[in-house]
Amino acid sequence: MTTTQPTRRFGAAPAVDDLSPDERVSIDELRARQLARLQWTLRHAYQNVPFYRAKFDAAGVHPDDCEDLADLAKFPCTTKQDLRDTYPFGMFAVPEKDIRRLHASSGTTGKPTVVGYTERDIDTWSGVLARSIFAAGGRPGHKLHNAYGYGLFTGGLGVHYGAEKLGCTVIPASGGMTARQVQLITDFEPEIIMVTPSYMLTLLDEFERQGVDPRASSLKIGIFGAEPWTEQMRREIEDRMDLDAVDIYGLSEVMGPGVAQECVETKDGLHIWEDHFYPEVVDPVDGGVLPDGETGELLFTSLTKQALPIIRYRTRDLTALRPGTARPAFRRMDKVTGRSDDMIILRGVNVFPTQIEEIVLDVDGLAPHFQLELTKHDRMDHLTVLVECEAGTGDDRRRAAAHEIASRVKDGVGVSVGVDVLDPETLERSVGKLRRVLDRR
Ligand code: DLL
Repeated sequence: MTTTQPTRRFGAAPAVDDLSPDERVSIDELRARQLARLQWTLRHAYQNVPFYRAKFDAAGVHPDDCEDLADLAKFPCTTKQDLRDTYPFGMFAVPEKDIRRLHASSGTTGKPTVVGYTERDIDTWSGVLARSIFAAGGRPGHKLHNAYGYGLFTGGLGVHYGAEKLGCTVIPASGGMTARQVQLITDFEPEIIMVTPSYMLTLLDEFERQGVDPRASSLKIGIFGAEPWTEQMRREIEDRMDLDAVDIYGLSEVMGPGVAQECVETKDGLHIWEDHFYPEVVDPVDGGVLPDGETGELLFTSLTKQALPIIRYRTRDLTALRPGTARPAFRRMDKVTGRSDDMIILRGVNVFPTQIEEIVLDVDGLAPHFQLELTKHDRMDHLTVLVECEAGTGDDRRRAAAHEIASRVKDGVGVSVGVDVLDPETLERSVGKLRRVLDRR
């Protein structure tokens, strides 16, 4: 995690009075609120979801056993597989008539996981998103171009409701039709864009293709998330667009976007809205709770959700918890640099796509577009970094760049990889979440 001072262009720290009372709580007030809400959630889940009742009974725990926040560790974890096994509505804790909206995440294999929201859940979600957009520097009256996909994905509609709640004017662009998006941004002059970082790169290329200077656009704040991205990527986007780029995190099972948000004045990791989502970090192998500051797998327990209370949900995302800064009561999480699912194990060494991103974005003559291709030769796994060069990069520079990437990966990550420097515009472009790893084994 970087500790260098963030470059700040437009976003200013709000006056304390501008923060909602919920964001101004002391740590003690927050802990008391969390405990009361946790006790309610455990009871609500136990009484209304047969899955939780069976699981708690089997583990020999009862909601009454939670007298302290640390007691949560006695309760069993929930996984994505549990949601699949109870597909579609088996984890819901309210009658179906009280569900106002469904979303689903498209599993790459098997059934999607389905999530539901009551009217109050949607209001809670909009509230944390409004808080998130405010923390990013957004204010009532700003126009917000929302290029997260609308539909079953939580990004589009989640952000839409949150932005309206804050008092922004929403431009519901969704993903795709890239040329038209650039036109809309040019004509409507939004201050804020919300989109995946990989689709932001696609949009940036389109600005340049149309001969429009992205630095001259009206955009001042970019709120990027839904996939991992690095400090190098932040600098790349901030320099090319002249905006403040901040990170937003969330996941459908816990709510959607807006579980945690980076504040523009510090850009030092994401404040978790802990009055609604209680975080723990555990050892990914034995599940033991780790102290704050240690990196492991992030777990969340919802504290206020009615339709789909979720207890100790294993996100598979790797991060560490840190004390609050810009919002002192709320702990921060480090930028998520990888999911345990995305981790490639190559000849015994763990490799995350973000480690390659850091290197690729630092080498001259290359575009920020890359993918990782896994193949098998002679029963051995091979990883090839496919990366585009910038237009006009000569053969010598391309060879030198390939060599530089291979040797920096060898030194920094500890594995030998092949590198193919490709012509510009040859790799697949993102319209939402980008697939970084091509597994051709
Ligand atoms: O991606 C929700 C979202 C929408 C977040 C828009 C931010 C912006 P899912 O489709 O359920 O929900 O995917 C959740 O995406 O477990 C992480 O692995 C990854 N992810 C989300 N935000 C970030 C982020 C939405 N800021 C999964 N950095 C999560 C890294 C992220 N990974």
